Amino acid sequence: MDAEALGQLVSRIAEGSKFILVSNREPWLHERDTMGIKVLRPASGMVTALEPIIRATGGTWIAHGAGSADRLVTDHKDRIEVPPEKPAYVLKRVWLSKKEENGYYYGISNQTLWPLCHIVYTRPRFSREDWEIYRRVNQRFCDAVLEEAGSDPAIVFIQDYHLALLPRMLRTARPDLFLIHFWHIPWPNCEAFRILPWGEELLDGLLGNDILGFHIQYHCNNFMDTVERTIESRVDYEQFRIFRGGRPTHIRSFPISVDFHQIANDSESQRTRKSYDRIVKELGEGVLGTTVYAGVDRIDYTKGIPERVKAFDLMLKLHPEIHGKVTLLQLAAPSRTHIEDYRDINDKLDDLVDEVNWRHQTEEWTPVRFLRGHHDYYTVLASYKIADILLVTSLHDGMNLVAKEYVSARKKNPDGVLLLSQYTGASRDLQDALLVNPYDIEQMADMMYASFCMDNSERAERMSRMIKQVRRNTVYDWGAKIMRELEKILPTGGVR
Ligand code: F6P
Repeated sequence: MDAEALGQLVSRIAEGSKFILVSNREPWLHERDTMGIKVLRPASGMVTALEPIIRATGGTWIAHGAGSADRLVTDHKDRIEVPPEKPAYVLKRVWLSKKEENGYYYGISNQTLWPLCHIVYTRPRFSREDWEIYRRVNQRFCDAVLEEAGSDPAIVFIQDYHLALLPRMLRTARPDLFLIHFWHIPWPNCEAFRILPWGEELLDGLLGNDILGFHIQYHCNNFMDTVERTIESRVDYEQFRIFRGGRPTHIRSFPISVDFHQIANDSESQRTRKSYDRIVKELGEGVLGTTVYAGVDRIDYTKGIPERVKAFDLMLKLHPEIHGKVTLLQLAAPSRTHIEDYRDINDKLDDLVDEVNWRHQTEEWTPVRFLRGHHDYYTVLASYKIADILLVTSLHDGMNLVAKEYVSARKKNPDGVLLLSQYTGASRDLQDALLVNPYDIEQMADMMYASFCMDNSERAERMSRMIKQVRRNTVYDWGAKIMRELEKILPTGGVR
């Protein structure tokens, strides 16, 4: 399946009705800077995965306008055509006040639902005032979707935990819309979920959908179980659907992926080469003479970054013979820094990196290179080229697309090793990775050392099998699988 085939599939299923994608994070941000206005891509696996889909299908993407110059470039309907260099779809921005952004994004989304769903021992915070704001902001998104749909038939594809109440709002206003929602983060077990004071309302919101997707079957099972124990409904395990108020919500797993061919090609491009040279210059040529362990993450307490630094440190303690022969390169994008837990993890990382470097470094060798900042697409691809071993050590992750990007970027040289947390959705798909439990620092240090020792033929065999896996299951296959599921439940006669 490629972009064109997916575009055709959607046109056939949508039959001329509108295709509207809704998410909190926008795919392009306009920011003011000293030179005028610059356009940025956010550090988000979700955005990277969805852009090829909306390019293929056309339509409108509705998202929060978070850039400082966003308002300056949109028309009177808050719309702008993107991507900037080759417009292919419309981006419609929803404006939020600081107070709204605080309650809805920093509050409920990222201090309540994010820790609640990831279960990584960061306590969720509950504020009634924030919940009211969350509800209000979901209504704002609802108004934007209704305005965009007009009186036409439409398929609305909603993303993630920021918009859990939106489906019910849309269903009430426009029963004829087709609503698909993809939840990009884990769904917890019922024991963890039941402490949410507004659990019933949230579940009712999600049960406004026709299809609700998760990355893996385990999260679907958790969701079914949560609903059965929490809210009045008929839970049908035979067909994996839930009836509330007559109309069913189909619960399905759709493991998301990446644009394999695009990444594989871009990794060999001039721009990646330039970024590669720039990073090597910044780090010093010597780095290339070492085995490079790399990590590419948003700075988030779910990503297991301190755990990986500690495991690297332990490996150095256990194997002094590899001193000077290995480097840990961490690309780290600051994220959600208005939240205390995120500021804490930033500070913690600074201290940890200092400590590890202080313990082991020599005049010629710095073991940990920590590059904090928003690294662009080509810099990330270049870091995949540099990485002999990629570390994805999330404590819990819905999927983790960095793992699949790395595999795609190694198409030409299938010689890298992927060390992958067993608590990522990706670990179900990439079975030739070296799987680790990131809570177990000793095991992780052993596996890091095993990666260092792995011979070339085993590296190539494992990577080649993973390349085959990702090539056969791209983000277009993900989109197609969702659309085919929609096709199955459409009344005869289609969307119209
Ligand atoms: O995949 C989960 C997710 O929260 C996305 O919805 C989001 O775009 C991404 O992680 C990055 O987080 P944020 O948008 O909060 O910067």
